[in-house]
This record gives sequence, structure tokens and C-alpha cells, in this order.
Amino acid sequence: MNGRKMLLGTNLKMYKTASQTEKYLTELAQCTADINRDQVTFFVNLSYLAIPSASQLKMKSPIVLGAQNMCWEDQGEFTGEISPVMLKEFNVEVIEIAHSERRKIFGETDSIANQKMLAALRHGFKALLCVGENHDQKENKVVDAILQIQLQVGLKNVKPEDLDRIWIAYEPGWAIGVNGEPATGDYVGDRHDRINRILIEMFGERGGAIPKLYGGSVNLKNAKEFIEQTHVDGLFVGRAAWDAEHFSQLAREVLPLWGMKVKGDN
Ligand code: PGA
Repeated sequence: MNGRKMLLGTNLKMYKTASQTEKYLTELAQCTADINRDQVTFFVNLSYLAIPSASQLKMKSPIVLGAQNMCWEDQGEFTGEISPVMLKEFNVEVIEIAHSERRKIFGETDSIANQKMLAALRHGFKALLCVGENHDQKENKVVDAILQIQLQVGLKNVKPEDLDRIWIAYEPGWAIGVNGEPATGDYVGDRHDRINRILIEMFGERGGAIPKLYGGSVNLKNAKEFIEQTHVDGLFVGRAAWDAEHFSQLAREVLPLWGMKVKGDN
């Protein structure tokens, strides 16, 4: 809407191998080839092992590549970690930080998220910070406070000149995955309004311009009700995007709602 560029992304989690990822990216580039990239950015966050071969493909593909995680240090005694310097050797543009599964299963805190955000920005990446309450926080009615803390700590010390490389994904933990309960459009709209206000309080008008994506059981049926919300600038899709043709269909459902024409469709 109003010249905004829609962001449509997916996180492949720990599903596709490197060869499966190559096939998926090739198909996605093909079946979205008629969609004008001036109006939408497609991005896919890959497993580390899929990054080298996907990076080769990227030379001739319009799909933006991302990593699902990253260490905050450039190098050092961090067994099992991958640094920004290592990722920079490939065509990775987006770093996803503090996805709900990283917070819940791997114990990532808001301070760790902040260190990763600052490192990603320092190295010139787009930094995608995932925020959202879990089921208990929702039941205890502390959602707004949780969002405030996650944003305030996660974005601490971000320099004004880096603001245009930040994306926020609102993904309530209770809505994510096979056992997730999809949120309603109204619920998401209210949370995005709140996130928008917090970002404006933190960074002024430029904070309000930070793109905000919604994720959590987005599918072909419900995608429209999310993208219609005022402060939803894109969708961060899991399962419903892992088949390239399906993801392309989802894009074709939502793009017309922003007045964007999709070639090949009536
Ligand atoms: P889902 O995953 O769409 O499968 O719920 C979303 C996410 O984890 O980002």
C-alpha cells in the first residue's frame, strides 16, 4: 500500500537439505518470475549447510537469501557457531535473530538477541528481529510488556543510520508450528499497532518506517486477513511456503490487496 514494498519470506527451519534447498529455490524463482520485484521482496532463510550452493544459484536468482541464526562475535572460542565474517563470504543478505524456537529451545535471551542484532548491522546485513509472546505470557496478559522489553533490549544501541536495515517479525509462540493456533487478523493488527508505537517512541518517525512482518501459521486461507492490517508490511511464513508453487500462490492471494498486479493472473 502507498508505495510500500511487501516482504514475503520463509524460514526453512531444519527441514531441507542443501540439494532440496537448491531445488526449492530454483522452483520458487521460476514460479514467481512474473511477479514484479519492485513491489515485493521474496526472501528465504536457509540452513547454514545450504548456503554455499544456494549462494551460487543466487547469481541468477531474484530470491534474497538469509541465515536463520548467527554468532555475535567475528571469531573466537565459540565451538559450533557461525560468525558474520563466515556468512559474508556468501550471498547472504538477511540474518534472522531470536526466532521463537531459538528463544524457547536454545535459551536465547533478549541480550543475546541484541548482541546478534548489533553484529549483523555492523557487518552490513539486514537484521530481522523476531519478537512475540508465548502462551503463558498471553494467558497472563503481559503481551504488551513483553513486546516492549523484547524491542527495547533487542534494539538497544542501534545506530540511527542502521535503522533502514532492520526488519521486525511479530510471531507469537502459541501461533507457530503444527501445534500452533492461528491468530486472528484483529489480534495481529493490534499487536502490530503496539509494535509500531514502541518503535516510534524509541526512534521517532523513522522507527515507524521499520518493516513489520507477521508470522505464525500463515496459510493460503488466512494470509489476506493479516496483510490487510495497517502496520503489517509482510508475512513470514513457515510450512505454507515450503512448497514453491504454494508460496507463489500465497503471494498471488495477497499482492492484489495492496493494489499490486500480478502478471499471468487475470
Ligand atoms: P509456521 O512457522 O508458519 O509453520 O507456523 C512460522 C515460523 O516459525 O516463522
